[in-house]
Amino acid sequence: MCGIVGIIGTEPVAMRLYEALKRLEYRGYDSAGIAFLEEGRFKRLRAAGKLNNLLARIQETPSQATIGIGHTRWATHGAPTEENAHPHIAGSVAIVHNGIIENFQVLKAQLEEAGVTVKSDTDTEIVAHLIDQRLKAGEAPQEAVRSVLKMLEGAFAFVIMFEGEDDLLIAARRGSPLAIGHGDGEMFLGSDAIALAPFTSRVTYLEDGDMAVVRRDRLDVFDEAGRQVVRPLSFTQASALLVDKGGHRHFMAKEIAEQPDVIGHTLAEYVNFHEGRVTLPDMPVDLSAIDRITITACGTAHYAGMVAKYWIERLARLPVEVDVASEFRYREAPLKEGGLSLVISQSGETADTLAALRYCKEKGQVVAAVVNVPESTIARESDVILRTYAGPEIGVASTKAFTCQLAVLAAFAIHLARMRGCMDADEEKRLVKTLSEVPRLVVTALKQDAHIDTVAQKIAHARDILYLGRGINYPIALEGALKLKEISYIHAEGYAAGELKHGPIALIDENVPVVVIAPRDKLFDKTVSNMQEVAARGARIVLITDEEGARAHGAEAFETIAVPAADPFVSPILYAIPVQLLAYHAAVFLGTDVDQPRNLAKSVTVE
Ligand code: M6R
Repeated sequence: MCGIVGIIGTEPVAMRLYEALKRLEYRGYDSAGIAFLEEGRFKRLRAAGKLNNLLARIQETPSQATIGIGHTRWATHGAPTEENAHPHIAGSVAIVHNGIIENFQVLKAQLEEAGVTVKSDTDTEIVAHLIDQRLKAGEAPQEAVRSVLKMLEGAFAFVIMFEGEDDLLIAARRGSPLAIGHGDGEMFLGSDAIALAPFTSRVTYLEDGDMAVVRRDRLDVFDEAGRQVVRPLSFTQASALLVDKGGHRHFMAKEIAEQPDVIGHTLAEYVNFHEGRVTLPDMPVDLSAIDRITITACGTAHYAGMVAKYWIERLARLPVEVDVASEFRYREAPLKEGGLSLVISQSGETADTLAALRYCKEKGQVVAAVVNVPESTIARESDVILRTYAGPEIGVASTKAFTCQLAVLAAFAIHLARMRGCMDADEEKRLVKTLSEVPRLVVTALKQDAHIDTVAQKIAHARDILYLGRGINYPIALEGALKLKEISYIHAEGYAAGELKHGPIALIDENVPVVVIAPRDKLFDKTVSNMQEVAARGARIVLITDEEGARAHGAEAFETIAVPAADPFVSPILYAIPVQLLAYHAAVFLGTDVDQPRNLAKSVTVE
């Protein structure tokens, strides 16, 4: 899951490549590189670490070259060193690659047997050598790429440049996304339309199996069978403006703070507050006739799906199966033709979620996607888009996208309940009113920021932290633990509070803080009992509850965080806020890279 770009233009290309890569940094940031053609010969600049290191190299190497390719990497094969950074060059071929070549070991062995010296540990360099061999054997660039594509197994997108070919880039995709932007006498290639936005809004998306031959004033696309095809031109709304931190220290802080606005915006798309009704787009499926829903997603989006299960099963009396997409895609789950599947994804590019979507479609399911990026592959391949209006989420830790997913899913659950005759108009009105209060309640929850900062500092030195939740807030315990571990590197686990005594309670001692998520709902007393069980074993409790809950049980806790009292229906949205802030402040206190934590990438486009 790297970001790739290519430009074949009329202006000096190096800084333009950098600008496009900057916008793709969410896909990986452990090393980066560009290559361009200067007087027909390759020149390559690469650097380990963040893109800024590459920028320094670009600035000290003035160039008038107008054709080039670039890459920002999330390592799959080989350490994130300069030698392994892309572009990879073999003879007269330079290549940038996103994805994984699964049979690269076999291909590498064949190359080495033929006397080729492979310099990096990457799968990508092998592809450059294979194409170069074909060129040396007399094939034209297009033919050479086509022959090599046939040899490759895996999911990938490539942009390839050839020495001596100043008006040619060849691109190909199988599994990984690739967009081609049309300028005036210029062409731009990128992993997504956001990368191309500073240059053009006219974009062609390649389809799976496509190979594109790109020249300054011409684009020729060929499908997997080698037939020339026309892919539609669309106009992207991706903004040319690079999102900034808006005065916050980190993107994550900005994105946490934006939640009242973006949740409100998202709700406004699906809820008619005036009439007290939910208004969802039409779906090509009879919601009153389906007998279950399958939800697949990864990471935080999967936890949003788990919350949706509680909402849908209780309100719409419809069984819901939720699975992580990486398991679901290989599980061969039986799915009834004409049924409904839901996929949830911020980026819309997560490889496992996309594969799950395709599996569901193959089985004849109607697929609805809760997705934040409307130009994404998942959005384009779904039958119905339930878009979240979180705006660009830059911090690797998902925050506002999660609460916006919950907002959409809450509206969806109400809609389903109405369609299935499980809810009357009065109850719909009541729940819509509850939803309308969420942005205001989130504002109040955010006011705990300074207090949560002090709590975070008190627990940040722990080696392990447990999160407990029950019922609809069990997924929030999982989300709290994920958020903490991914940005602070503290080991954290979320548990269903009632499950603790079946094993994990053995972990408890005075060194293990336990974060207890306990809204005053019908399970409150049970959660409090679980809290008392761990407190009795010496655990330091951080109790997250409302003011009444804090008055009743705050004394038993080491620290209490109060969330505004609200209808239990919306508690997962509200209780997401303190767990985000707790993770954020712990990470800031520990001095980790909050927005770009180690080993992660914003968009996981490999399985
Ligand atoms: O873009 P997606 O929502 O499909 O991404 C899914 C996960 O990779 C993502 O939620 C990940 O778990 C986040 N880093 C969590 O904060």
